[in-house]
Amino acid sequence: SFSSSASTMAQIKQVTVIGSGLMGAGIAQVAASTGHNVVLVDQNQDILDKSMGNLRKSLQRVAKKKYADDAAGGENFVKDVLGKIQTETDSAKSVLKADLVIEAIVENLDVKRKLFKQLDQAAPQHTIFASNTSSLPISDIATSTKRLDRFGGLHYFNPVPMMKLVEVIRIPDTSDDTFKSLVEFGKANGKVTVECKDTPGFIVNRLLVPYMMESVRLVERGDASPRDIDTAMKLGAGYPMGPFELADYVGLDTVKFIIDGWCEKYPDNPLFQPSAMVNKLVSEGKLGMKTGEGFYSHKK
Ligand code: 3HC
Repeated sequence: SFSSSASTMAQIKQVTVIGSGLMGAGIAQVAASTGHNVVLVDQNQDILDKSMGNLRKSLQRVAKKKYADDAAGGENFVKDVLGKIQTETDSAKSVLKADLVIEAIVENLDVKRKLFKQLDQAAPQHTIFASNTSSLPISDIATSTKRLDRFGGLHYFNPVPMMKLVEVIRIPDTSDDTFKSLVEFGKANGKVTVECKDTPGFIVNRLLVPYMMESVRLVERGDASPRDIDTAMKLGAGYPMGPFELADYVGLDTVKFIIDGWCEKYPDNPLFQPSAMVNKLVSEGKLGMKTGEGFYSHKK
């Protein structure tokens, strides 16, 4: 009916992304590329400058494809998108005009709760809060605020400009209007959205992380090599990357963090057991592509 479509559902124009790491920068890039005004926040200007440098490079890769025969059009596109992104180091200040805040900071519950508690006091009444957490319960983060009805999860995938999916998570208190706004925002980003309850790993990581850990266990038992497992899953199952390439891509620290957290919470689930091999690599600082070595060497 007309009345339900004319509900109070907020149109999201102004977005604040907190955390300018790989994910946060990717989300900021995609939001700005699809016409939103973005404020990108991190602890200091140095981090933000580096992040904006990477974001520019990623935009140029997109432009090269999108404007293959139109170099000037590509340059304008990059300039336009960058012009829609402001940087800010004061998180309270960054949300003053926000319709939506997306948090993509370190995967630490206390740090996230502290941040949202502060933002809850600074942000306007209508502002929707979302976390991009990959493994923490959205409810545990949301209860640091007094806006449970305007809280949800928006989970993106690396590399954000390329991956077409966004998981939209609702907690029991998420209002229908908030949920609809989050879905609409995901679609406005040019993504396909799927809905999932606030359950460990949502859909993708709940399947992907145990799969990566099972691959490591194959190697630990001496059944096959990382290279052969990667080849097998690419050519035998059609995955764009094998599990070891993917683990190096997302970071072994991230994989370890997720599995350790789930193991602590669900110690009897055999799919959630840690791996000595992953633990050793992480303790040696071999975290994957970002450190130049993980299961593979990525040194240039
Ligand atoms: N920014 C912009 N464009 C990019 C990009 C980026 N970061 N990465 C890749 N591209 C584009 C570029 O146009 C690139 O062409 P270019 O090299 O000429 O610039 C084009 O993609 C092709 O890239 P590549 O030749 O490097 O390699 P592929 O064709 O294999 O594509 C891939 C790369 C899209 C990353 C593909 O390998 C893939 O889909 N891999 C699987 C990724 C995946 O599973 N992600 C989910 C991880 S889980 C997660 O994120 C959840 C978290 O919570 C842990």
